[in-house]
Amino acid sequence: MSRLKTIEWSSKKDVCVLIDQTQLPLKLIYKNIKTIEEMFDAIKVLKVRGAPAIGIAGAFGVYLGIRNISNQTKTSEFVSILNKKADYLASSRPTAVNLFWAINRVMIKAKTLADLNLSIPEIKKGLLEEALKILYEDKRMCRKIGENGLPLLKKIKAILTHCNAGGLATSELGTALAPIYVAAEQGRLIHVFADETRPLLQGARITAFELQKAGIPVTVICDNMAATVMARGLVDAVIVGADRIAANGDTANKIGTYGVAVLAKTHNIPFYVAAPASTFDLSIKSGKEIPIEERNSEEITCGFGKQTAPYGIKVFNPAFDVTPAKYISAFITDRGVIAPPFLQNLKKAFLK
Ligand code: MRU
Repeated sequence: MSRLKTIEWSSKKDVCVLIDQTQLPLKLIYKNIKTIEEMFDAIKVLKVRGAPAIGIAGAFGVYLGIRNISNQTKTSEFVSILNKKADYLASSRPTAVNLFWAINRVMIKAKTLADLNLSIPEIKKGLLEEALKILYEDKRMCRKIGENGLPLLKKIKAILTHCNAGGLATSELGTALAPIYVAAEQGRLIHVFADETRPLLQGARITAFELQKAGIPVTVICDNMAATVMARGLVDAVIVGADRIAANGDTANKIGTYGVAVLAKTHNIPFYVAAPASTFDLSIKSGKEIPIEERNSEEITCGFGKQTAPYGIKVFNPAFDVTPAKYISAFITDRGVIAPPFLQNLKKAFLK
């Protein structure tokens, strides 16, 4: 199965290469990202999106921000510029913790090397190596999620997913879709119902695109059809991704996820959240502490260039919602499947 290259580093060109997801599904365009400003824009306008992918983008973005600083710069001045660049990039989107996690990791690496009195070129090199490490770890984590989720899908013929938590939201296999891809590698095709996911249609444009390309059966539905799909017994489970998971298991994911979780509970359908360790933020107690991004009203009133609401109308456009932990059957992670009680079990899995 050939994989889409969502985000990569080209050492030949010394640039980050990513798929411009705003152009999907009609055009598969790879963009060279050469500066931190271009990376900020790519994250902000969702050329690159999905929590793990924006984490990787953030790590490469910091490198792009410092690579042209003169090698003659004093270390203390270098670190102060580095801090400013990192803060700037971290302000691109607020909800997915992976962005801050990855930026923090490359910063720690650079500062450790600076403390060891390494030269500026060596610090730059070390920072890029750390970003590459994050990229390769992500590939491994996604595969692990796929393998760990597979036993849960033994008797499952069809699932429903919301937004895109597939290969295009990560470096390779995805999170929610990883078990579906691993099952397909073993010759078992699981049908995916993809919520189109208003307002930006990540389900219709991106999930449907990547599954169709991979030869996995996929049916797109409008978000308001999920209840009917469940009531008719067309899906046996729901699997979604996550942008940030609090210590008690409350989970922020694309707006609409909460509603899907409530519906799943009503229909006695298991609701799984698939996520790598980098999406768990055990520093916050509950979902109340997760900052929720609010985006432009035009995404709702004039989506994809067509005015669909009166000019000047009031709009509420949160990009994410928080699903209370009580609706979640289990987390599928790279460290195994984590069942309730989440407060205890997440700590056990992630605070070793
Ligand atoms: O606004 P987006 O497209 O970045 O939102 C993405 C999601 O909500 C995904 O479900 C989440 O980041 C998990 S991706 C593995």
